Amino acid sequence: MASFSLRNLRVSWATLLRSFLFPLQLILLLPLTASSASSTSLPPRSGGGPTPQLPLDILATLTPILSPSSQVLLPSDPSFPLYTSRARGLEGAPTFLAVVLPATESDVSAAVRYANDRDLPFLAISGQHGSWTHLGRFRGIAISLQNLKSNQVRLEPDGRHAVLGGGTSVHDAVRYLWSRNRQTTMGMCECVGAVAVGLGGGHGFLQGRYGLAVDQWVSARVVLGSGEVVTVSEDENEDLWWGLRGAGHNFGIVTEARVKVYEPERGREKWAWEMFTFKGEQLEDVYAYASELLGWQQKELSHWTIWWWDQAVDKEKPVITFLFFHNGSPEELENLGKGIRELGPAAHRAGVVEYPDISAVFGITLLDPACQQGNPTNGMLRAADVEQYEVPALRKTYDLFSSKLSGDSRFAYSMIMLEGYSVQAVQAVPAESTAFGLRSQRVLQASDLTWARGNTTFDKEAQLFGQELWRALSGTAQKRSYPNYAFGDEGPEALYEPWRLQKLRSLKKKYDPEGRFGYFASFSESD
Ligand SMILES: Cc1cc2nc3c(=O)[nH]c(=O)nc-3n(C[C@H](O)[C@H](O)[C@H](O)COP(=O)(O)OP(=O)(O)OC[C@H]3O[C@@H](n4cnc5c(N)ncnc54)[C@H](O)[C@@H]3O)c2cc1C
Ligand SMILES: *[C@@H]1O[C@H](CO)[C@@H](O)[C@H](O)[C@H]1NC(C)=O
Repeated sequence: MASFSLRNLRVSWATLLRSFLFPLQLILLLPLTASSASSTSLPPRSGGGPTPQLPLDILATLTPILSPSSQVLLPSDPSFPLYTSRARGLEGAPTFLAVVLPATESDVSAAVRYANDRDLPFLAISGQHGSWTHLGRFRGIAISLQNLKSNQVRLEPDGRHAVLGGGTSVHDAVRYLWSRNRQTTMGMCECVGAVAVGLGGGHGFLQGRYGLAVDQWVSARVVLGSGEVVTVSEDENEDLWWGLRGAGHNFGIVTEARVKVYEPERGREKWAWEMFTFKGEQLEDVYAYASELLGWQQKELSHWTIWWWDQAVDKEKPVITFLFFHNGSPEELENLGKGIRELGPAAHRAGVVEYPDISAVFGITLLDPACQQGNPTNGMLRAADVEQYEVPALRKTYDLFSSKLSGDSRFAYSMIMLEGYSVQAVQAVPAESTAFGLRSQRVLQASDLTWARGNTTFDKEAQLFGQELWRALSGTAQKRSYPNYAFGDEGPEALYEPWRLQKLRSLKKKYDPEGRFGYFASFSESD
């Protein structure tokens, strides 16, 4: 399958109308600039060491050591912004002096060695959607994995494994596998990298059945900071294998991952979904129900709640939308969801989709605004993972969120998401066997603030408000954050428990002694 390109997509009103209204895409009701909006004129960052300079002869010196179908782009290249702009702003945008587009694993290694020889920092890029704020500290060259030949997914002859290239998008991976009657756990947003999602763990609707995205990995090829290429698995470099699965952004560039894939269970090819919207005053009822649900939620069933601004239901306050996704029939789901229906929602919708189309229900397909680059908004995502719902903490968070949203329309497209995926197969994997440290956290709670760019005073206010929300949302529990949803100021202890941190830090000394990786989900003491 030709690898799909995100390039040149245009958001039209028709696209917006076509797609289901979902909060994730509401961000986009703000005026959108098309993907050609340039980010080449980013101001240089201050702080850090000496400012790296691009070698003037980079085209002449780097191009010849790469294979013929690779590319090196300078900021003057018209396609440069397509590889460098981020979906969201604030300080989370790296500054790129050039983009290398390797075609092969040896090209990745050559680009890393080239950068090291010239003291140039490098950063791997996959879907360009990561929003960890310290990406903004980066200034150097991008090694974009989007044109790797290995991105063309390969199902192996045994029908039980597939190889994903380091820059394969979720879209390409899911569609390729589905067309061959296969599936595996993956994130849901079509434009993020299928491997990138796994580096931090990888949550998705199939995790109750199969485990996290990274639990599907059986081996990976990794280019280390020195340029050396290694195979990593249970039998080779097993200590790195442990660290890669949950803290992978910190150790190397994964050029491919071999993963387990499965045939969908016969009779369970479809997913029924139902969506119930409540006013905020019903928060206690909704989460009393959801708390019980955590006790009996079967592996086929996931629930999410989203707090957002839906003026059709409540003009004054954010609403609570409760979503069920069930790998089974609508009749089964109707039966399972009796308890929530009895609470008397103000609005209700339902539907049936095949697995690859779940992303359309959320408005996170390649065509949806959430997947466009150059969006002129700032975004701030912060995770507070918990084992149980803590209803008083949720009430406090809701009131805080509500008073801000009601009083300051600049935050109107913000939301709070509480993702209650099923966890059976996630918890069946021994907690100490991977760097991922959140197996007992059953709910991935996150605040996602969105506001227009251009007012730095307000940016600071937003950051404080985001921290306040995060503290409230965490409640009395130990603060824990899913690395892929973290902002960067939660502190390493929120990402990994002390023993895991210790192990990760010693691995870091062994595999990345020069500290060439560390712009995303870093666990170093200074972050
Ligand atoms: C709309 C949306 C929906 C999401 N849904 C989910 C979800 O359902 N489940 C979930 O678990 N997460 C989800 N996420 C979070 C997502 O996992 C992270 O944002 C992820 O880091 C984004 O990957 P990317 O390919 O866009 O990364 P990029 O922004 O390109 O990269 C992020 C970081 O990962 C590093 N990186 C990327 N690829 C590689 C590689 N091959 N080897 C080494 N390092 C690499 C980069 O250097 C960078 O530091 C979602 C994010 C968004 C924006
Ligand atoms: C920027 O934000 C600050 C803080 O909220 C506000 O007082 C100020 O009026 C804003 N400026 C503009 C131009 O909107």
